[in-house]
Amino acid sequence: MTNHTAITIRRPDDYHLHLRDGEMLKLVTPDSSRDFARAIIMPNLVPPVTTTALAEAYKARIEEAIPTEHDFRPLMTLYLTESTDADDLELGAKSGLISAVKLYPAGATTNSDSGVKSIERVYPVLERMAEIGLPLCVHGEVTDADIDIFDREAVFIERVLDPIRQAIPGLRVVMEHITTKDGVDYVRSAEKDLAATLTTHHLIINRNHILVGGIKPHYYCLPVAKREVHRLALVEAATSADPRFFLGTDSAPHATDTKENACGCAGCYTSINTLSCLAQVFEDQDALDKLELFTSVNGANFYGLPLTEARTRLVKQDSPVNYPQTVDSSGFNVTVFDPGFPLYWKVA
Ligand code: NCD
Ligand code: ZN
Repeated sequence: MTNHTAITIRRPDDYHLHLRDGEMLKLVTPDSSRDFARAIIMPNLVPPVTTTALAEAYKARIEEAIPTEHDFRPLMTLYLTESTDADDLELGAKSGLISAVKLYPAGATTNSDSGVKSIERVYPVLERMAEIGLPLCVHGEVTDADIDIFDREAVFIERVLDPIRQAIPGLRVVMEHITTKDGVDYVRSAEKDLAATLTTHHLIINRNHILVGGIKPHYYCLPVAKREVHRLALVEAATSADPRFFLGTDSAPHATDTKENACGCAGCYTSINTLSCLAQVFEDQDALDKLELFTSVNGANFYGLPLTEARTRLVKQDSPVNYPQTVDSSGFNVTVFDPGFPLYWKVA
C-alpha cells in the first residue's frame, strides 16, 4: 500500500445532484459549490422542471444561491414527461442551457409522479435526442408492484433500458446511481453511448447498514442499497479507471424530520463530505491515483465538456475532520451522511 498524505486533482464535477428550491436551495448550494466546478442538476422539483423556460428560471435561482467566492456552474436538465416538446428541448440544448434530459419512471422515487408511464410514448423525443446528441439520464428502476424492490434495477435493464437502446441507436444514456453488479456489467457490455454514475454512499453502505441493529432512515435512499457483493462491484468499477464510470453524488437533502418519520423520505445528503469519503474509499483500494478520473475526467469526457483547469488539493490529517452532523436553516435541518468511519482526508 502506497502511503499518501496529499494529492492534487482537477477540480471535481458532480454528475447527479439535487439542490431543491427555496430555503433548502439556499442552505445546500454552498456545500456543493465549495468543492465542485459543475453539477448536473436534477429537475425533480414540485412542479418538475419540464421546459426550457422553467430550467432557465431555476438556473437563475441556483446562481443566486452560489456564494460569490465560489466558482460553480449548474448544468441544467429537463424532466421528461409524456408531453415533453421535442422542439423546446432541442432549442434548449442548442442554446447551451440544457445538458441532459432525465427519465423518471412514474412513481420510482421522490417527486416522480409526473414521470413516464409508457416508454413508447416518449420514443419520438428520445429519437430527437439521439439526433442532436443530448444525453438521457435514467433513474433505472421499474415500479411494478410485483417486482421486489431489491430487483428493480436489474429488471429495468432487461425490460426497459435494453429495449430503448436497441430501438434508438445512437441515444447516449447515463444510468444514474447504479447500485448493482448487474448495472456495472451492463455498462461494461456496451461499446459506446452508455455510462453510469456512482454515488458516494453506495460505495460505502450495503443494505445491512440500513436494517441491522435498528432501522437507519438516513441510509435510506433510492435505488436502495443492495447486498455487499454489489457494493464491492461498484467500488471495483469506480476505482478501475474505466471511462464509463464517474461520480454523481445524488446528494438529496430532505429535512431531518421527514426522514425520521413513519414514512421516511429517500435520499442521503453527502455534498459536504463527499470528497473526504471518496478519498478514503480510493485509498483503501490503493487507488488514489484513479480518483481524479472518477471525480474530474470521465464525466466531463462523456458530456463533452472541457476538463476543469482549477486544481483541488486533498490532504490527509492526523486527526479526523469534524464535519457537522447537521446543516441547519431556520426551522429545519438536514442530517449529513455518516460514512461510519473517521474521515482524515480534507479539501485543503
Ligand atoms: C432523490 C430525491 O430525494 O430527490 N432521492 C434518492 O433517494 N436518491 C431522488 C432520486 O434520485 O432517486
Ligand atoms: Zn437523485
